[in-house]
Amino acid sequence: MNDERRTVAHGQVESLDTRHIRADFPILAQQVNGKRVVFLDSAASSQKPIQVLQAMDDVYRCAYANVHRGVYAFSEAATARYDQAREKVARFIGAPSAEQIVFTRNATEALNLLAYSYGRHFLRPGDEILITELEHHANFVPWQVLAQERGLTLRFIPITPEGQLDLDQLDELLTPRTKLVSFAHVSNVLGTITDPRPIIQRARAVGAAVIVDGSQSVPHMPVNVSQMDCDFLVFSGHKMLGPTGIGVLYGKRELLEAMPPFLTGGDMISAVGFDGPRWNEVPLKFEAGTPAFVEAIGLGAAVDYLSALGMEAVRTHEREITAYALERVSEVPGAKIIGPTDPQIRGGVVTFTLDRIHPHDLASLLDGEGVAIRAGHHCAQPLHIRLGLNATARASFYIYNERRDVDALIEALYKAKSVLKR
Ligand SMILES: Cc1ncc(COP(=O)(O)O)c(C=O)c1O
Repeated sequence: MNDERRTVAHGQVESLDTRHIRADFPILAQQVNGKRVVFLDSAASSQKPIQVLQAMDDVYRCAYANVHRGVYAFSEAATARYDQAREKVARFIGAPSAEQIVFTRNATEALNLLAYSYGRHFLRPGDEILITELEHHANFVPWQVLAQERGLTLRFIPITPEGQLDLDQLDELLTPRTKLVSFAHVSNVLGTITDPRPIIQRARAVGAAVIVDGSQSVPHMPVNVSQMDCDFLVFSGHKMLGPTGIGVLYGKRELLEAMPPFLTGGDMISAVGFDGPRWNEVPLKFEAGTPAFVEAIGLGAAVDYLSALGMEAVRTHEREITAYALERVSEVPGAKIIGPTDPQIRGGVVTFTLDRIHPHDLASLLDGEGVAIRAGHHCAQPLHIRLGLNATARASFYIYNERRDVDALIEALYKAKSVLKR
């Protein structure tokens, strides 16, 4: 990729040249309902550039065979590309080594792996797990199930009226019984960016392990696990230009080594006798069965694409477009923005309600205008209960979105209001 074409200097900072970026995304050239596609649902799943599609196509056409098994050329070529993908992901998040990158199906599976393996192995009745009120169900339900099963207590960091985590409560919530703290780096509903370091430091002081849910941060901003010093980080490939079916669990080596396997079978053993199995080294101990290696290679290509743009430039672009969207949406009569209104502490997610229009009706009307947004509880029902709302509408942005996409959203919102006579 010629990265010079895809970034532009904005004074001291680089931002993105969306015109060139959009040319890499074939799906964006289509029309929906006779209208230009305005895709504003990347927080759910992003679109894919040709570089990712080609990397996967190339494996199937030129280097396809099962990995870690064959001693013939195709298998060796596929294995080499798979191993490279792991190294790319490790570099992308500043992990000390590729062996600390476990490939999973998605962030949800990575969190379930942690609940199943770390949680069931290390937590005892009476222990406490601390999460937050704004978590996605993926970082909520596995802990609820574990707590019920093992007699643990689940506690929650509350949110302030502005939609930030209320860290004033942390000293009271963190106790010597707290064994695990797990929170979203960026909320998929409120967009709130939480600085993980103070939470990690304070959790460390009571001896708790920390999981950071990077599903909405790793695709959108620089994330470095070594600087952050978290114990675990999870994220999904499909939200960061990669394919579905591939996700990542990063872990501290000593913890991954101490944890029992999640799923068992082929590839995750070093030997099996009639007297029992011996586990493979990490990360393979956690990767039972034929892995999604073509998808991992696709994720590696996505990482190359984002790295060439530069994650600082990606964040700058999203901050700018989010600031513009916050301003424009708040000008629409009857619109109420949910979450922080300062784009410095908000990821590329603008969630809102409009008059008393049900978000699903709004999303269908917007679809008629070619504008794709998300409506519902966004897999964060406890947060919606806390907000006193059943559902919200969410527009989310990525590297291919432009100001004119926000303009199209605003125009469609006015049209929806006039159709519904509000
Ligand atoms: C903050 C957060 N965590 C976890 C997930 C779960 O991701 P996946 O469905 O890819 O496992 C999502 C998906 O929207 C998310 O936004």
